[in-house]
Amino acid sequence: MKAAVITHYQQATPTIKTVAMPTPQPTDVLVKIKAASINPIDLKTMAGGLKILLSYQMPLIIGSDFAGEVVSVGTDVTTFKVGDAVYGRPRKNRIGTFAEYLAVDATDIALKPRNLSFKEAAAMPLVGLTSYQALHDILQIKPGQHVLIQAGAGGIGTVAIQLAKRLGAIVATTTSPRNFDLVRKLGADRIIDYHTENFADALTDYDAVFDTLGGKDLEQAFSIVKPGGQVVSISGLPNARFAKAYGLPRWKRTLFRLATHRLNHLEKQTQVAYRFLFMWPSGTDLAELTRLIEQAQLRPIIDRSFNFDELNRALAYAKNGHARGKIILKIS
Ligand SMILES: NC(=O)c1ccc[n+]([C@@H]2O[C@H](COP(=O)([O-])OP(=O)(O)OC[C@H]3O[C@@H](n4cnc5c(N)ncnc54)[C@H](OP(=O)(O)O)[C@@H]3O)[C@@H](O)[C@H]2O)c1
Repeated sequence: MKAAVITHYQQATPTIKTVAMPTPQPTDVLVKIKAASINPIDLKTMAGGLKILLSYQMPLIIGSDFAGEVVSVGTDVTTFKVGDAVYGRPRKNRIGTFAEYLAVDATDIALKPRNLSFKEAAAMPLVGLTSYQALHDILQIKPGQHVLIQAGAGGIGTVAIQLAKRLGAIVATTTSPRNFDLVRKLGADRIIDYHTENFADALTDYDAVFDTLGGKDLEQAFSIVKPGGQVVSISGLPNARFAKAYGLPRWKRTLFRLATHRLNHLEKQTQVAYRFLFMWPSGTDLAELTRLIEQAQLRPIIDRSFNFDELNRALAYAKNGHARGKIILKIS
């Protein structure tokens, strides 16, 4: 099969080449991939930027989510059958969706929403799961709560705004003026042009921040949240609490504790809880997203699509960091 492969970290671009077909386990399904989406994690993985959390053996097929059709099922799988249209985010040590076929654990996938094409469905798994887990599981947003979602026009932001509105939140978001209409249609109540206005000057007494930016923006987030509120980040630094829950060895936990001393201090000073989220694959959560999509409560936003042989153009476009929603790769 054809697959996009790197042989070492910091390889400038992946190479599309012919590789062996995957060997499914008894708990796997084998999927013929129709479409995948580009996620910033693909660029970070290629750069070796996540090595402290995840280290991969080379050569590595990249790609983190997909939509496709089941072509065979393992002997232990009872939940899917040949011909099912599915989508998913494979577990982190089994990525490789920029390929014609993927063997994936059956518990990491769900049936594709019937009202979406494969291309549209491929836009959802990673950003949908991340947003769902941040807003439902961690922040547990309640009706009437005020939440800031950073970078509302991005892959995460476009889904997170819709999910937060569905939960009854009052949503503020940051973006550029060219995206104001988009985020307003998705439900944003307060829109901040991050080029001309600092969200920390504009917002106060918020219940929660979903931070997708990290750095200074993450530190400033604590200043707009009420005591007892929460900041969850997917781009900031993992703290020692996360490192422990993630099962990292003691030396890495110490490293994260030292690196996050500013955040630990801000947590104490403001009485706002900080959580780092590293999303987890979940067919169950994805099935819930399927339900919301089929009930027209959630829809994917697609910026543009590329053919498989245009992968390097697609990655370069993603690297610019200004996509409006998702970038799709058509595989077959
Ligand atoms: N920890 C996890 O489990 C996890 C999971 C998923 C994603 N992530 C991380 O979350 C981040 C966001 O992911 P994504 O898929 O949403 O990325 P993305 O789609 O590439 O984000 C692009 C968007 O970011 C906006 N943006 C850039 N700088 C901004 C700023 N300073 N203020 C406001 N908006 C800004 C851009 O809007 P403009 O064009 O207006 O600049 C664009 O719409 C990435 O770092 C990714 O690695 C982490």
